[in-house]
Amino acid sequence: MKHAQRQRAPLTVVILAAGEGKRMKSALPKVLQPLAGRPLLKHVIDTARSLEPAAVHVVYGHGGDAVRAALAGEAVSWTLQPVRLGTGHALLQVMPQIPDTHLVLVLYGDVPLISRATLEKLLSLAGPKQLALLTAKLGDPQGYGRIVRAASGLVQRIVEEKDATQRQLAIHECNTGVLVCPARLLRGWLGRLRTNNAQREYYLTDVIAMAVRDKVAVRAILAADAGEVQGVNDKAQLAELERLCRAQRARELLEGGVTLADPARIDVRGTLGYGSDVCIDVNVIFEGHVRLGDRVRIGAGCVIRDSEIGADTQVFAHCVIDGAHIGPNCSIGPFARLRPQARLADSVHIGNFVEVKNAQLGEGSKANHLAYVGDAEVGSRVNIGAGTIVANYDGAAKHGTHIGDDVHTGSNSVLVAPITVGAGATIAAGSTVTHSVPGGKLTVARARQVTLENWRRPVKPAK
Ligand code: UD1
Ligand code: CA
Repeated sequence: MKHAQRQRAPLTVVILAAGEGKRMKSALPKVLQPLAGRPLLKHVIDTARSLEPAAVHVVYGHGGDAVRAALAGEAVSWTLQPVRLGTGHALLQVMPQIPDTHLVLVLYGDVPLISRATLEKLLSLAGPKQLALLTAKLGDPQGYGRIVRAASGLVQRIVEEKDATQRQLAIHECNTGVLVCPARLLRGWLGRLRTNNAQREYYLTDVIAMAVRDKVAVRAILAADAGEVQGVNDKAQLAELERLCRAQRARELLEGGVTLADPARIDVRGTLGYGSDVCIDVNVIFEGHVRLGDRVRIGAGCVIRDSEIGADTQVFAHCVIDGAHIGPNCSIGPFARLRPQARLADSVHIGNFVEVKNAQLGEGSKANHLAYVGDAEVGSRVNIGAGTIVANYDGAAKHGTHIGDDVHTGSNSVLVAPITVGAGATIAAGSTVTHSVPGGKLTVARARQVTLENWRRPVKPAK
């Protein structure tokens, strides 16, 4: 492998992405539509990058500024195709930037699942006097260019569907569009393309017949997996590829020893790391970078983004966890919400309808019911009573709250930040605490209960 790479000419990848994508019926450009959490074009750029090419060029179209802006951080060169005159014309726009000595790999911004392995195979077939072409046998070839082979089996040319005869339409071997060709040859051929075809376009596909004429070997390989070369033109195709991604990720998790209640009902839109004996119930969505420790169990319907969950922690159904660090042996939910910078130490319990934001809870602390803990440092073994609210926002600024070890806050208490609650303090139920609370004592901050002995309930006057 290494040896083959060293021998190969420098590689330039060109990604064609000037299409409008009208059939998406969306204000978002087609190549920015998300698939498994990443824009379509980002999938292709990432795969291109994995080949370690000398350069990656993206050809974008009129109105494609949103595409450039959304992917501004990518190390690619952007080339505008001012008018959309066909795939050959699109490629021609970047040729002045590609040295003759390079191999050119052509990819498509709307064919997102092409794999590195397939491209490596294709690259191994290319050479200074060889063109490598990726084809696919499709049950329904409609819309695709057809691969015309001679009786010898050698590829002769590609005929676009709109230019094909009835006999050619019956061919099931299709052009995926992906090809590898030496830049020097491509430059010559692209310069000679004409638009004398049904669509009045400069067809990149016409270079195949030119190669045959110039005695350059055309080496075609079949894509192993039809999903890999499937393009996205509408929302139905997008959903179909999402399904393929989902199945692929689920397969990987199962192979890695993760127990999935149903591999068809999990979405991993990012990276998911895991220890051993992890169990995931149905309809769980992972986004960004998530890491699950050994024996973590995730209940049904959770959404977990950019978070880390320690060993033996159990997350019950319907929790939303975003940007949280959860220690080992914790119990979360059901119906809990952990927001960015929620940091839970060992054996913390967060129960139903509890929200934690930018707050640390020490070992063994509990907030089991209906609480809000924001911008707070909470010690160990603290019991946050049901309905406790940390009032962290005064309408203009956020303030912090410190709660010492072994504090108990009574049900329905409000801790108005900024305050400090000393270790071992107990706050009476229903208190609104606006000053710091000393440790080890009971603090009551509510009206005292009275009973009016002589009070009478008003009565309606008799009619
Ligand atoms: C093209 C191929 C066809 C192949 C099919 C696979 C040609 C002439 N035909 O057909 O053989 O089976 O793809 O999907 O190449 N693009 C530009 N600028 C343009 C035209 C296209 O950037 O001026 C880009 C599009 O954004 C798209 C890709 O090239 O990503 C393919 O263009 P499209 O018009 O969909 O080509 P097809 O007619 O489908
Ligand atoms: Ca197409």
